[in-house]
Amino acid sequence: MCGIVGYIGSKDTKEILLNGLEKLEYRGYDSAGIATLNNEGLNLFKVKGRIAALRDRVDHSVEATMGIGHTRWATHGVPSATNAHPHQSTSGRFTLVHNGVIENYQDLKRDYLGDVQFVSETDTEVIVQLVEKNFKKTNDTAEAFRETVSHLKGSYALALIDNEDQETIYVAKNKSPLLVGLGEGFNLVASDAMATLKETDQYLEINDQEIVLVSRNYVEIQKLNGETVEREPYTAQIDVSDTEKGTYPHFMLKEIDEQPFVMRKIIQEYQDENNDLKLDEDIRAAMKECDRIYIIAAGTSYHAGLVGKQFIEKLAEIPVEVHVASEFSYNMPLLSEKPLFVFISQSGETADSRAVLVKIKELGHPALTITNVPGSTLSREANYTLNLYAGPEIAVASTKAYTAQMAVLAILAVDTARAKGLELSFDPMQELAIVASAMEALTDQKETVEELARDYLATSRNAFFIGRSTDYYVCVEGALKLKEISYIQAEGFAGGELKHGTIALIEEGTPVIALATQSEVNYGIRSNVQEVVARGANAMVVSMKGLEQDTDAFVIPEVHELLTSLVSVVPLQLLAYYAALHRDCDVDKPRNLAKSVTVE
Ligand code: F6R
Repeated sequence: MCGIVGYIGSKDTKEILLNGLEKLEYRGYDSAGIATLNNEGLNLFKVKGRIAALRDRVDHSVEATMGIGHTRWATHGVPSATNAHPHQSTSGRFTLVHNGVIENYQDLKRDYLGDVQFVSETDTEVIVQLVEKNFKKTNDTAEAFRETVSHLKGSYALALIDNEDQETIYVAKNKSPLLVGLGEGFNLVASDAMATLKETDQYLEINDQEIVLVSRNYVEIQKLNGETVEREPYTAQIDVSDTEKGTYPHFMLKEIDEQPFVMRKIIQEYQDENNDLKLDEDIRAAMKECDRIYIIAAGTSYHAGLVGKQFIEKLAEIPVEVHVASEFSYNMPLLSEKPLFVFISQSGETADSRAVLVKIKELGHPALTITNVPGSTLSREANYTLNLYAGPEIAVASTKAYTAQMAVLAILAVDTARAKGLELSFDPMQELAIVASAMEALTDQKETVEELARDYLATSRNAFFIGRSTDYYVCVEGALKLKEISYIQAEGFAGGELKHGTIALIEEGTPVIALATQSEVNYGIRSNVQEVVARGANAMVVSMKGLEQDTDAFVIPEVHELLTSLVSVVPLQLLAYYAALHRDCDVDKPRNLAKSVTVE
């Protein structure tokens, strides 16, 4: 995790760094710092806390035209000003920011830096101290940096400045994301183009194990052996306004509200002028040829995968396994003869998923990534990519990317079914248009959900979500949303499974939120509700029109039974949002979390 930004040009760099870090705060917000360099020397400011605190700490009278900055999600060492980046070498000559984890930092310390007095508890300080050590041998910063990088094992995006060189930022990357932004008379580096869109929309991708020398008027990419690499820039397709909150109090609420537009955008992007589905022929062929699909994902994306499995199995008749990315490598299942791996990832940067991608590529298996960030690591490294078109998702809790993932999976399933010549009565675009309208109707009912959140969740210690069939998968997602932003201990359970143990936790007043959107299991889930009510639970049923009962707290509009997950999750997202507000939680930046989880 962590976000880094660097600038070298003619403008004062502080504001560019601070603005960039604000846009990268989704990557971590434990502590932050910037270092700028001018003729008087280095200006270093670090704080524990957020960018707003760093802004207060920075001396705004100091001007400089180059610098680097960092926002941290702690891995090694507690969040503190000392452990915050940038880190300096003992002499103070070299200053460095790092995103990633150096797996061999203890070895490097022992083998090369036994005589160095370390200031922080981080793995990062080892890198900058090693640069200094190597510089003493070579008297050449680029050489010392290259030598240092060649010893690093693990993940890193690095930006280094040498106090005695106002012409270069030294950059390197392995596994962690990093881009170089190009401008007239300036260049910059950033973990994500979103950070620096105000400055430029032209970016260069950096590959793993490359080093980049970034100056005001040139950028030189090199391999670790010093060989120069030529690469064309690309234009970042992000609208600056998409990265702003506008009149919304929180990004999460904005992103919940954007879901109907995202559905319509997906319909537009995946449909041609004849209203046929528009998918890459190679993806179609890969889906048709495989004998089993392995979905790999984490968190909310994993929950979307569970629903996607149903789409693919029911519509395209291909068996699907869904795996939590971080577990896959330890318990690799026996693979089928012709597997196709499908990686679902909003950010396209999740390290756990990437580790699986690296492994299955070594085994020679094909991979498709479904992501919101074209050009992300998982997208670049897979054979094929499907875009989510959800626009930047900035709130840490994923909402619109989740529903977009399910919509794209439904389209993929139908496309495959048609390619296989299977007869289907299900028209995904028509049904997704109905979903979009249903979402709109739900986002108009915020006051009702806010009241439910106050009545059921404002003061509760825990909460349970129960559902059967597809509703169960949405329950798991609803529980994740609630726990991550409101800190209420919440769990999603299969309605029928509750009585096998978990029902012991139900006591007087325990909130139980039940989903009832599937006709086949409506009777079953209603019985489960009665069981918990009989034990004192404060039950709330969210049902779908046509299946509702008088006592239901909330009724969602009718949509195709296969797609109810895309709609029933909306009140659960809003429930989590308002519960968090009622409990005074920081909705967009919940504690201990980061948006893009780039450490394994
Ligand atoms: C929860 C959430 C996380 C992510 C998970 C995977 O709201 O956002 O659970 O879904 O960290 O991230 P991606 O989809 O970027 O791979």
